[in-house]
Amino acid sequence: MKKRMISGIQSSGTITLGNYIGAIQNFIRLQDEYELFVFIADLHSITTPQDRKELQHNIRSLAALYLACGLDPERVTIFIQSEVPQHTQLSWILECSTYMGELERMTQFKDKSRSQAEKTANASIGVGLFTYPSLMAADILLYDAAFVPVGEDQKQHLELTRNLAQRFNNKHGETFIVPEPVIPKTGARIMSLTEPTRKMSKSDPNPRSFISMLDPLKTIEKKIKSAVTDSDGIMAYDPENKPGLSNLLTIYSVLTSKTIDELVAEYADSGYGAFKADLAKIVVDTIAPIQERYHEIYASAMLDEILDTGAFKAQRLASRKLEKVNKKIGLGRRRK
Ligand code: TYM
Repeated sequence: MKKRMISGIQSSGTITLGNYIGAIQNFIRLQDEYELFVFIADLHSITTPQDRKELQHNIRSLAALYLACGLDPERVTIFIQSEVPQHTQLSWILECSTYMGELERMTQFKDKSRSQAEKTANASIGVGLFTYPSLMAADILLYDAAFVPVGEDQKQHLELTRNLAQRFNNKHGETFIVPEPVIPKTGARIMSLTEPTRKMSKSDPNPRSFISMLDPLKTIEKKIKSAVTDSDGIMAYDPENKPGLSNLLTIYSVLTSKTIDELVAEYADSGYGAFKADLAKIVVDTIAPIQERYHEIYASAMLDEILDTGAFKAQRLASRKLEKVNKKIGLGRRRK
């Protein structure tokens, strides 16, 4: 039997080339080998303020992008997190055994709460942003997933998920599979194009810093060509001293079958300009066919059918698991 794998992406804006490289490319690579579940983490996206209409669009848009990028609904279960209520139910249970200190240590919480505080005059940060990793643990543990393909930034959340699974198993007996992260060797952390010491992020206020999968192709080309590099003109992979160029080399390498060493040799004498022009073409050639498929899928009834089937299948597994968990803890009642 194939091992099960699960992952999700937040529907808080259009996904970036970072999400594509760090996550989606791997989903596609792994969809034959594993029983893959991929969902739209709409509940996670409301941990920061969302506009109702935009959120609705972003949820459908992400589902359409999954398919447009190449997830095969015949093999992969695709569903919307909030359509499977067991996620929030198990999340509450896990929150009750998550320690404050564990959540306080989460670097994503520290970063996001800081930027949220800067945006709101009264520094109002929702509790959901704090407890977010317990919901993420529930997303994974509900499905007995052995593996979770994610980018580098989710490693700490996966560590917590493992701890919560082990803590529950120790107290109540074997219940959850302790999952392993699957993090790509290259491309697990694509950096900003304007500040290459920071991660590329869809919530970055500067749109030149990231490539959205739905950016016009001309914009994509311009963003790559104007990406920050350095002025010494030496083609080398050195993330510490040449973070901009190293990031572009990484993107080039993961979108083609060339290794970084091969690229460094190939462009040693041609200068950054020619390298960036070729990379811009590669990125555009990767994204253009995805965009073409996307528009058709977004408006189709087929998308709704796929999401209905996905939610149905996910609910079946999730409800069975939650029932077991409730019983082990002693929630509810036994009929006389
Ligand atoms: P999110 O929505 O921030 O990102 C989705 C996936 O994309 C990866 N990623 C990146 N990879 C490389 N370079 C980047 N710059 C980059 N930015 C993002 C992320 O590592 C992630 O794999 N909490 C999760 C969503 C989630 C989830 C889950 C994931 C909710 N429940 C259960 C796995 C399992 C998140 O906010 O990812």
